[in-house]
Amino acid sequence: MHPIVLAVSGASAQPLAERALQLLLQAGESVELVVSRGAIGVWQAELGVRVPNEPEAQEAFWRERTGCQGGALVCHRWNDQSAAIASGSHRTRGMVILPCSMGSVGRIAAGVATDLLERCADVHLKEGRPLVICPRETPWNLIHLRNLTTLAEAGARIAPPVPAWYHQPKSLEDMVDFLVIRVFDCLGYDLGQLRRWSGPIQS
Ligand SMILES: Cc1cc2nc3c(=O)[nH]c(=O)nc-3n(C[C@H](O)[C@H](O)[C@H](O)COP(=O)(O)O)c2cc1C
Repeated sequence: MHPIVLAVSGASAQPLAERALQLLLQAGESVELVVSRGAIGVWQAELGVRVPNEPEAQEAFWRERTGCQGGALVCHRWNDQSAAIASGSHRTRGMVILPCSMGSVGRIAAGVATDLLERCADVHLKEGRPLVICPRETPWNLIHLRNLTTLAEAGARIAPPVPAWYHQPKSLEDMVDFLVIRVFDCLGYDLGQLRRWSGPIQS
């Protein structure tokens, strides 16, 4: 099976990315991970955690954070546009950008690739491969909405991490799992047990 690209850009929902990585590795998946410079900045600003940029150090960092040695993990430098995933000839199962900043949304919608994340998204669109974009911002201005529309027209799935209550979450962890599992539903993954809608609660 080809790897999935998990891309993380600089929006305020980094725990979703960490949980997605953990669930993918626990499921034995092969993951190519690219964390943007903006995302490294958000980790520092919001969580006080320094994410290493060097691939080997970053893999050790994520292995320790997720507590998972399973699956296969390849980490990339945010600016390494010579990485295999920067080429359409390197086959993947698809790409998920979780979370996705409005900056990344705008640059990908404009066809501008200033870093590996944007180049890889551009490659997925040009190759007609699944690209799931999880924008995190509120409220959205007209520019955000137009850029997201452009991306949807180009073939991306737009899957904002929007909470729901029908699965009856009991904790923040339940909500995080709901958001992550629903994102990966878009690609046909079954990343965990989820209370799915099966009709109203019987009283
Ligand atoms: C603590 C923090 C939180 C941020 N949250 C968001 C956010 O939720 N959505 C967003 O679009 N940008 C957010 N930003 C701004 C982006 O990180 C910034 O525009 C960055 O340049 C995006 O880079 P990237 O798209 O290459 O990751 C945040 C920045 C910081 C420092």
